[in-house]
Amino acid sequence: MRERMVIGNWKMNPPTIADAVELARSVADRIPAGVLVGVAPAAVALPAVSDALRDTNLDVYAQDVHWEERGAFTGQIAASMLRGLATGAIVGHSEVRRDQCDDDARVAKKLARTVTAGLRPILCVGESAAEHEAGNASVVIVRQIAADLAEAPRRGLQRLVVAYEPIWAIGTGNPATGEWATLEVRAIRAALKHAGLDAEAIPILYGGSVSARSVAEFAAADGIDGALVGGASLDPDEFAAIVRAFG
Ligand code: PGA
Repeated sequence: MRERMVIGNWKMNPPTIADAVELARSVADRIPAGVLVGVAPAAVALPAVSDALRDTNLDVYAQDVHWEERGAFTGQIAASMLRGLATGAIVGHSEVRRDQCDDDARVAKKLARTVTAGLRPILCVGESAAEHEAGNASVVIVRQIAADLAEAPRRGLQRLVVAYEPIWAIGTGNPATGEWATLEVRAIRAALKHAGLDAEAIPILYGGSVSARSVAEFAAADGIDGALVGGASLDPDEFAAIVRAFG
C-alpha cells in the first residue's frame, strides 16, 4: 500500500507571516487522520508555521532549496537551513524552473541536496502547453525524471514523492482529466523503474487546478496517490475537502 498524501503549496501567499500561522492552524484543525498532509509556506514563514504546527500531524515543506551547500548566493536557502523547520521540500516546481531559469541539471542538484540534508523531496515534473499540444507529454516527463534523478544518491530516494503537474493546468482552473493523469503517471512509474527505483512504492501526486469540485476523479484514478494543491490550499475548508477525498 502506497502512502496517500496531500500537500498545499502556498506559493507567495498569504500576505503576512501572521496570516500564514493562522492559515496553518485552521488547516491543522480540519484535517482527518489517515492521509499524510503537509503545507509549504514561503521560506520566511517556515519558522513561525513550523512552531505553530509542532504538536499537530500536519507536516511542513519548503517550496525550494538551493543546489549548493552554502556560499555567495544572495536570497537563496540551503537545504541544511531547513533542518528542524521542514520535513521536506518541493523540488523542480515549474514556477521555480521558470523564475530561476532552472534546467534539469540544476533540479538534479537540488534534489541531491534535499535528500542528503535528510529532507523528503517532492519532485515536480510536467509538460508545457506547447509540448502537450505537440503530443510530447510523455517524452518530456520521462526525460525530466531521468535527468532530475541523475545526481541523488539512490539510498536517499527511498522517500521520494513525485508530483505530475502539467504546466497548462496550473492556476488555470482547467485541471487535466483523471484519465489523462493516469496515463502520464504510468509513464512516470516506468521512468522511475528504469532509473532503478521501486516505482510501485513511490507516491505520485497530481497537481494543477485541483479543487474540491475536481478532486474526485483524481482520487479515483488508478495510480494517483494524492494531490499537490496551489490556489485551493489557501481555503482551509476546501483544502480539507480535498484531503478527505484521498482518505
Ligand atoms: P494550482 O497550483 O492548484 O493553483 O493550479 C498547483 C501547483 O502549482 O502546485
